[in-house]
Amino acid sequence: MLHMKFAIWLVAAAYVSAYPRYLLPGSPYIPGGNGDGTCTGVHPTGPIMYAVHSTPYKDTRISFEIANTAGALTTAVCPGAAYTITVKFPEQRLALLTASTGAFTNPDPTTGCPNRVDLGGSSRWNVANSFTTTFEVPCNAAGGIQLKVTSAGRGTSRQWAQMDTTLTVSSACAVAKCGVQARPQYWADPVWRLVPELPPCTAHPERDYAELYAPHGSPIPDSTIVFTMYGKDNITATNTVCPGETHVFKVSFPQRRLALLTASLGAIVPHAGSISRVLDPNCPQRVDLGDSYYLNTGFTVEYTLPCNASDAGFVLFKVTSAPGAVQWRQSNVTLAVNTACASLTCDLRGGWCMRVERSMMR
Ligand SMILES: *[C@@H]1O[C@H](CO)[C@@H](O)[C@H](O)[C@H]1NC(C)=O
Ligand SMILES: *[C@@H]1O[C@H](CO)[C@@H](O)[C@H](O)[C@H]1NC(C)=O
Ligand SMILES: *[C@@H]1O[C@H](CO)[C@@H](O)[C@H](O)[C@H]1NC(C)=O
Repeated sequence: MLHMKFAIWLVAAAYVSAYPRYLLPGSPYIPGGNGDGTCTGVHPTGPIMYAVHSTPYKDTRISFEIANTAGALTTAVCPGAAYTITVKFPEQRLALLTASTGAFTNPDPTTGCPNRVDLGGSSRWNVANSFTTTFEVPCNAAGGIQLKVTSAGRGTSRQWAQMDTTLTVSSACAVAKCGVQARPQYWADPVWRLVPELPPCTAHPERDYAELYAPHGSPIPDSTIVFTMYGKDNITATNTVCPGETHVFKVSFPQRRLALLTASLGAIVPHAGSISRVLDPNCPQRVDLGDSYYLNTGFTVEYTLPCNASDAGFVLFKVTSAPGAVQWRQSNVTLAVNTACASLTCDLRGGWCMRVERSMMR
């Protein structure tokens, strides 16, 4: 009986170790992920302890097919355009695909890395002879984009098989939206801004900026934008904020957009897995949702109101968004500062967190 169990375990291990997700951060075998910590650095370059795939080899039988939205095959790509990428294998496999830049859009890319996708979703039921994924070339792409795949099948084909290819970026064919996308960095990034004076941390466009070549007209209110602040459990929605707590906060749109989010006070930090960036360290209450390149239907961030803001009464969140080049769409929400929950974590008299006081008393 014992022998039987052992055999089953061995078989299971042989299956599960082929999962691409075991190369990624959060892996039970390599907790920080394989490689150098970059999105594309996870491909194995030699044998990995406990993995049954030995040394990766270059498998020229693997092919890449790139098709434009009209279905025509191509090897040159245009900044801002979307493509379908099909990776074909000589037998059924699971695979991990990376691009040196750009974003996989369907299936969803891996957490925190838009340019990396787990083909087959690390499920042994999904092994296949080919996988198709949609891919967007960023507007700032130039030169070439390298695609790299690591794959593994079962049994005799379990050795890691790798292949790469380079797509030529043809800047001449950049799609129209690239020139005119409503990018928050043009407004608020100290390096990229196009506005003559860096706007205050909580400022949003309020008029037509045609003189700066912005084609977005005057901002219009948009009631379809949804703000959701979550309470302590990160599950229950709330309409108050607690000083001293880190809240999960989500902004959702009816279609994929880029956006600028500000809070009248406090600090917004991009949530793991959400492509967003604080543009200016002097403005911790402002974040570029999508980092001016990755349009999405929703962005999750973390919001913290300091203990000493208990007297503020309320926090105003504002968003300016756009799906590409079209008109800016704005919305806002005002959430009350909940001094009752603040009193649990913050000492209101001194503005110190209880946590700090407790650790000082030890
Ligand atoms: C918030 O949005 C409403 C509705 O669009 C608008 O009337 C109001 O001026 C906005 N408030 C601020 C402070 O932007
Ligand atoms: C809620 O989310 C925050 C921020 O991601 C995290 O620090 C905290 O541990 C989470 N709390 C729970 C109960 O999951
Ligand atoms: C609140 O605390 C922050 C961080 O310690 C500090 O920068 C800020 O000036 C304080 N604000 C007030 C109103 O005391």
